[in-house]
Amino acid sequence: MKATVTAHARYIVSEIDPRLYGSFIEHLGRAVYTGIYEPGHATADEHGMRRDVIDLVRELNVPIVRYPGGNFVSAYNWEDGVGPKEQRPVRLDLAWHTSESNEVGLHEFADWCSSVGTEMMMAVNLGSRGLDEARNLLEYTNHPGGSYWSDMRIQNGRTEPFDIKLWCLGNEMDGPWQIGHKTADEYGRLAHETAKAMRAFDKSLELVVCGSSNAKMATYPSWEATVLDHTYNEVDYISLHMYFDNKAGDTANYLAQSQKLDDYIVSVAGVIDFIKAKKRSSKTVYISFDEWNVWYHSAEQDKKILGGAEGWPFAPPLLEDIYNFEDVLQVGLILNTFIRRSNVVRIACLAQLVNVIAPIMTEPNGAAWRQTTFYPYLFASLYGRGRALDLSVDSPTYSASAVGEVPSLDVSAVHDTETGHVAFFIVNRSDAPVRAEFSIEGFGETAPVIVDHQVMTHADLRAVNSAAHPDNVVPKRGEGARIDGSRLSADFAGYSYQMIRIKV
Ligand code: AHR
Repeated sequence: MKATVTAHARYIVSEIDPRLYGSFIEHLGRAVYTGIYEPGHATADEHGMRRDVIDLVRELNVPIVRYPGGNFVSAYNWEDGVGPKEQRPVRLDLAWHTSESNEVGLHEFADWCSSVGTEMMMAVNLGSRGLDEARNLLEYTNHPGGSYWSDMRIQNGRTEPFDIKLWCLGNEMDGPWQIGHKTADEYGRLAHETAKAMRAFDKSLELVVCGSSNAKMATYPSWEATVLDHTYNEVDYISLHMYFDNKAGDTANYLAQSQKLDDYIVSVAGVIDFIKAKKRSSKTVYISFDEWNVWYHSAEQDKKILGGAEGWPFAPPLLEDIYNFEDVLQVGLILNTFIRRSNVVRIACLAQLVNVIAPIMTEPNGAAWRQTTFYPYLFASLYGRGRALDLSVDSPTYSASAVGEVPSLDVSAVHDTETGHVAFFIVNRSDAPVRAEFSIEGFGETAPVIVDHQVMTHADLRAVNSAAHPDNVVPKRGEGARIDGSRLSADFAGYSYQMIRIKV
């Protein structure tokens, strides 16, 4: 089977916001405790943070990390996590039915962000609390000093403000499971007033209002319309979430699901445009897709942990999905969708980063390793920065009962004008091999050269990495891609992920 791809230097979707490759750490399961933080670990730094994990996160070059939840934030008191550690209270976390020791809070997490070289995307609790908590937290984190909350920060050891720019106004407030769940009108009003108060402190903050938890919610998409009607002039982003699964064991349908993601983005972009027009506004609100991933492998284990839990366990192994090779393809397809829609999706967060539905796993007191899905995320984060190109792709298709015809070859491309590199991210989601010709146009007279070619294939779609076998599913240097004048040609085995980077 044959496919053709045309890339032209002047056909551009958008300049990508690097925060498209963000991630997320929630106080959930072992993400924080024995994930990023384990004072007794052989690699622990002076703050008790695991250096082996810091190194893996640094490798991913994560631009922002959302914190501290997730569902957790909707009953969280941020004040519990500041001040002397020995005085911090143990609290019951109602979202995940666990105990929270508060050993890690704002200061510790901010220091960790500095160690891994990332920015914090902070969520405020609009579930059990509200406007007052949000404005106090903001004064604590961002005011230089001379006020009640900022002086408390200084007393707690941090002279300089944390200067957090990006804030989530609650989490999944459309979800009946959320502590303090609200109707769209209730939430819209609260989010608007909270945003107004936060902007009264600093106009330049970037604020994210909650959209739908997923496209299957009964309230979607009127939730977005109502919430944006209340908040449009005060916020910058609307948040969307989506998780993918192959519970049915049907690879063809599983790998077609990114079409649903695309539909979801396009529909919400339409709602944004509708409210923008209704408000006669010149301002554009964008999408922050701040939770996305594959999530289903751990479902049975989680039922046992939560169902069999005596009391309120501390840092139980919740949501520890072990990803397989098939999920590499899914993560590649999701990232391709975000790149192609980067004109409306400005921020996205892989949920999550360590142990909890994560590309990085750890053993308490033991090893840290890369899951299979680490790699497509790595390549997109490292080489997917620059201009997303508006490609013309002609590919064979297959029919998936859930969404109809989908192209076998799914492609995105990013032109980094500083290095002069174009990175193509290609997933063959069908079982049949495809030969593709890429026409590279408008980049200048010099013939392009291949600078890197990485391939992920595996005979077993269910193959995984583990502490004992961390390199079972890893990228290998690709062979056989050829450049002839301004044409690049390469073969794409059935079920394969490839990244080809050329200098133009
Ligand atoms: O990422 C896991 C959970 O998924 C988050 O806590 C919640 O926001 C979502 O439902």
